[in-house]
Order: sequence, then C-alpha cells, then structure tokens
Amino acid sequence: MAGGPTTQELVAACSAAGALGSFGFAYTQPAEMKRQAAWVRGKTDRPFGINLFVAPQPETIEASAQRAALAAVAGYYAECGLPPPEPVSAPYAPKLEEQMAAVEEIRPRVFTVHLGALPAVEVRKLKALGILLGASATSVAEAKGLESLGFDFVIAQGGEAGGHRGSYLRDPYRSLTGTLALTRLIARAVKLPVVAAGGIMDGAGIAAVLALGAQAAQLGTAFIPCPESGASQVHKDALLRLEEDDTRLTEKFSGKPARGLANRFMREMEDKPQLAFPAQSSITGKLRQASAKAGKPDFIAMWAGQGAPLSRALPAAELIARLEAETVQAIQQLLQGQFHAS
Ligand SMILES: Cc1cc2nc3c(=O)[nH]c(=O)nc-3n(C[C@H](O)[C@H](O)[C@H](O)COP(=O)(O)O)c2cc1C
Repeated sequence: MAGGPTTQELVAACSAAGALGSFGFAYTQPAEMKRQAAWVRGKTDRPFGINLFVAPQPETIEASAQRAALAAVAGYYAECGLPPPEPVSAPYAPKLEEQMAAVEEIRPRVFTVHLGALPAVEVRKLKALGILLGASATSVAEAKGLESLGFDFVIAQGGEAGGHRGSYLRDPYRSLTGTLALTRLIARAVKLPVVAAGGIMDGAGIAAVLALGAQAAQLGTAFIPCPESGASQVHKDALLRLEEDDTRLTEKFSGKPARGLANRFMREMEDKPQLAFPAQSSITGKLRQASAKAGKPDFIAMWAGQGAPLSRALPAAELIARLEAETVQAIQQLLQGQFHAS
C-alpha cells in the first residue's frame, strides 16, 4: 500500500507473524527502498515482498491542461491556507528504471507490479535472480497476458478492492468484476497460482477465496488501522466508524481510478478537469497533506475496499493470528455443516 499506509514496521510485523509483508514502494526513491528493506532484514529472517507501479508517466502536459487542473483545485488550496498551486513537471514520481535497479539489488523473495505488466525480458531477468513475480489482473485477458509473459502468479483484483484499479489492458470501468466471480474466472483461465484480492477482511473471506480456487489472499484495507500502519489518524478513524460500505471510485487524486472512502473532494471534483496519472498526484499532494495535518477528511485519499466496515484496530501480529484462527474455524465449520460467520 503505497502512499503512507505501508511502513517498514508494518512489513516486518506481517512477515514475522507468518504472512508476507509487502512494501508499496511506488512513490519511494531507490535509496530509501534499499534502506527500508535492510531495516526489515534486520528485524526478521522471513521473506517479504516489494510492489511497484509500472504505468508510464506522461512526458509533457499541455499548458492549457495544467491551467484547467490547477484552477479546479485552487479554491481548496486557499481554504487549507496554502499558497496557490503551481504547474507540475516530470518526473511526477520516482523513475521506474532506477526503482527496478533497486529491486534487483535488494532481491526480495517476491516482487509484484500494479497498473501494468513487465516485458518478458525483464520477467526472465528478475526470475533468474530467484524472485517470485506477480501482478494484478482485473480481467481474464490481463491474467492470460501475465501468464504468457512468464509471471509466477496472478493477483485477481476484484472490483471491491481498495486503492488503484490494477487494470492494464481493459478499460478499468469495464473491469470491475467482483472478487468472487473474478477469482473463479481467472482460476479457470490460467494455470498459474491465483492470489485473490478485494473485500477480504477476515478468516471467513480468506476461506471463501480458498474455496474459489485461490492459493492465497491479499489484504490491504484490513491492515490500515494497525498501529504499525502509516495511514493518517483521520483515515483510520473513518474506517473504524463505518457501518456500511461508503466507498467509490475516483480519478481525481492521482489521474487513475482508485477506490476510497467517499469525501468532499471526490464529490465536488467529479466533473472537474484533472491531469493524467501520476501528474495529478503532484497537484493534490499538498492538499492531502494539509488535510491530514488539520485532521479533516475532506481532501485526503482514504483508499479503502468495500469490506472496510469490517476493519479492526489490532496490532499486525494479532490481526494475522486472528485471521489464521478464523480461517481454520471457517473451514472446520463448513466441513461440519454448521457454518455461520461470527
Ligand atoms: C491504501 C491502499 C493502498 C494501496 N496501494 C497499492 C499499491 O501501492 N500497489 C498495489 O499493487 N496495490 C495497492 N493497493 C491495492 C491492494 O493491492 C489490493 O488490491 C487491495 O487492497 C485489496 O482490497 P482490500 O483493500 O479490500 O483488501 C492499495 C490498497 C489500499 C487500500
């Protein structure tokens, strides 16, 4: 979970507890990637993963598009007491080639990519280093694409999932198949192991996706309220207060559709112009920070999946122990024909 929630403490705690902690390094510079990976290795011998975004960045952005996107957020800057927003220029995020070189140096046990695939030559290179490679797929076509490129496993990212849609071949808005159907469809279409993601918050959810043919479950939102997570307190509190799913998709924070808790920025920006991914992130960054600092949810990207109301504020190790016990219990109850999720 790039952008704050994932910390070295959260990765180390998850891996040490027997899950696979994973760094969301999309916005992290290579030197910092190496430092944090070494820190985790100092805490635990267990494997961990690294994840990067592999979507291309726009090289140039027309001045008129910049003006329109800046004008759309200028009032919010003033409201937060910030100086007027300024035009942004490339690179809008760390350079992917440099991040990839850091991954090769770190050699994590697992490396996953989001918002794209990797060329077959890169896949071969990483696999030769002993790294297991996975990527998000939001459709059968994307899962098959990953298989033909030589990936080791596919993450079936259902429409319920929090954060960015990992769609890289199909229109993300036409790739919102739910986790239940998508896991089945992808498990049938490819020979690779499938990791199910999206709306899984407890052992009942994990047992469900294992029954659907997944080999593992990937949970994001469930870990946001952990004390080890770096998400803002506003984000954590908002998750823990929810009784109903109140998430929606928006492109207005980053330029690509992502699911998060509905807030004022999402609602008011709906018909307003924005820049392409990830340039829009550069424009909204200061607003997000100011809003988090002021303890106001209005301008924060509070990424969350549809299972968010099931969030629990537990230390990561305790959450993982509970997830494990709940999964075993759910399977046993099913076998005994007396299942009802508690
Ligand atoms: C706060 C947040 C940040 C995320 N950042 C990333 C990311 O950097 N890379 C990635 O592959 N997926 C990211 N995701 C998506 C997750 O990989 C996964 O698909 C999703 O969390 C599963 O749905 P759930 O949140 O309902 O568990 C993020 C999700 C959340 C909630």
